[in-house]
Formats: sequence, C-alpha cells, structure tokens
Amino acid sequence: MEIITSPQAMLRHASQHRENKTRIALVPTMGALHEGHCSLITIAKEHADHIILSLFVNPLQFGANEDFETYPQTHTTDIAQAKTHGVDVIFMPNTHDLYPENHQTTVTVNTIENVLCGKSRPNHFSGVATIVAKLFQLTRPHVAVFGEKDYQQLVLIKRMVLDLHFPIEIKSGAIIRHDDGLAQSSRNTYLSTQERTIAPCIYQGLSAAQHQHQQGETDPHRLCTTVQQHLDKHPSIAIEYIEIRDAETLETVTALTKPAVLAVAIVLGKTRLIDNIVLK
Ligand code: PAJ
Repeated sequence: MEIITSPQAMLRHASQHRENKTRIALVPTMGALHEGHCSLITIAKEHADHIILSLFVNPLQFGANEDFETYPQTHTTDIAQAKTHGVDVIFMPNTHDLYPENHQTTVTVNTIENVLCGKSRPNHFSGVATIVAKLFQLTRPHVAVFGEKDYQQLVLIKRMVLDLHFPIEIKSGAIIRHDDGLAQSSRNTYLSTQERTIAPCIYQGLSAAQHQHQQGETDPHRLCTTVQQHLDKHPSIAIEYIEIRDAETLETVTALTKPAVLAVAIVLGKTRLIDNIVLK
C-alpha cells in the first residue's frame, strides 16, 4: 500500500493507472475509520481494481463553532485498517497543498444544500462539494463510493456529478450500525457513557416509523411524530429536524407515493448526530 501526500503526485499516479486501463475507485473519508468506512472499501473492490482511500479533514466543510480542531485523528490505526482491507493507495494531502494561498473557487449545489442539515450548517455542503470535486480531479476515479449515513451528501454528490459531467459512477453503501442500532460514526466518540446509552433511541424511532409505514401509513406528518415520540422520552435530546423528503431529489413530499427518506438530526449533549431510513 502506497501513501501519497502531494496532489501532483496523486494526479500523476492516477493518470498512469488510467493509461494502463486500470479501473480506479475512490473512497473519500475524513479518517477515524470505523466499520462504516470499511464497508465502502469492500464495495469499491467489487467495482474496481485499484482502490484509493482519501483521508483528509476538510476545513471548508466545518462551521466556525464546529469540531474541526477536535475532529478525531487516528492516522496510525487508519493506515493499518486500510491496508488490512486491501486499499492500494492512501491519499493524505496537507491543507495548504489542497487549498493554496488565496484559494477562491468553490462548488455550490443549489437547493439541495439549503435543506435538512444545510439549514443549521450554511456552508457545509459547499465545502463538501468543493473537496469532493478536487478529489475527483486528482484521483481520476471511474467509481466513487459514499455512505447512505450522510444521505443528503450522497444526493448532493450525485447531482454535482450530473451537473459538472464528471465521468464517474457513484455507488452507495448501506448504513453500518452498532448492535444496539446506533449508526457508526467517527463522532460517536464524543458521547459520554450515559449519552451513548440514550443515542440508540434515534434508530428505535426510525424503525418504529418504518414499521408503521409498512403497515400502510403514508402520512409524513404522522410518521415524523412517531420518531419524535421516541426522542421526546429523553430531555437531553434537542431535535434539530425530523423530516421526510423525496429519496432522489430531497424535495418535500405530502404523501408517500415514491421512495422517501426519513431523516433526523439531533444534538445530544455536545454531539450532533444524524441518521435516516429510506421508506420504499
Ligand atoms: P466521513 O464522515 O469520514 O465519511 C466518509 C464516508 O463514510 C461517507 O461517504 C459517509 O457517508 C460514510 N459513512 C460514515 N458512517 C457510515 C456508516 N455508519 N455506514 C456507512 N457509511 C458510513 O463524509 C465525509 O467523511 C466527508 O464529508 C467527505 C465526503 C470525505 C468529504 O470531506
């Protein structure tokens, strides 16, 4: 496994593999790898011969009061895990190389970035779109793999790929959960022991709504209320949103006639947690 830090070296490497007709897959991450990230590497291997994993905590997608400074960094174990899972190249650029002095260019995906998480994180998705566009340019993948855990991010990237004509296939991976249902996340390490016992109620609420939907309920409001009732049992939870939106476009829906995503964001103590379930 090779570790590349310079953007120029990454581009040279990818171009060489392109010339040799190797099929490249990219798995973008911010590190602090867990089973969710590893499941994306497994998917990447099903679709390509050469797997590039990027590890980069992207300052552009963090707000002023967010956790950029404290985001968990576990480089040594990340590198070991990537190797075990068969990654060929880790791309670990420095911030000043990716964002040279006087960097001016950003990518904005209108509409999608202003709903759900975009309401409380105004520049987040533009930061995500910008870094992912850069990673696409530098790693020249045929396929890129993203998790459904960050559902809005997935929809945004698919839209950007269409709009900017990136010749890249986007694959997605299902949410990997702990045994008690909590979606795996690098940020779960912020939870106190007591908060960690409360956090699975998000998935319990989502599952209850899914069950209700399977029993025939198609009213988004009633389904969201079910989730809310589960969350309201815990006064330490501040609900940011519980919403049902079209699974492809993230537009609002008034009745469930097409696949829709039931998405939740909460703050538990100091930790912001997101989760979702697709209602088919
Ligand atoms: P990060 O939070 O590290 O996540 C990297 C990828 O792993 C994303 O596609 C995310 O959806 C996926 N992922 C995270 N938890 C998961 C889980 N429990 N199950 C399945 N997949 C999971 O998302 C980012 O980084 C950044 O925004 C990035 C795309 C790298 C751009 O900076």
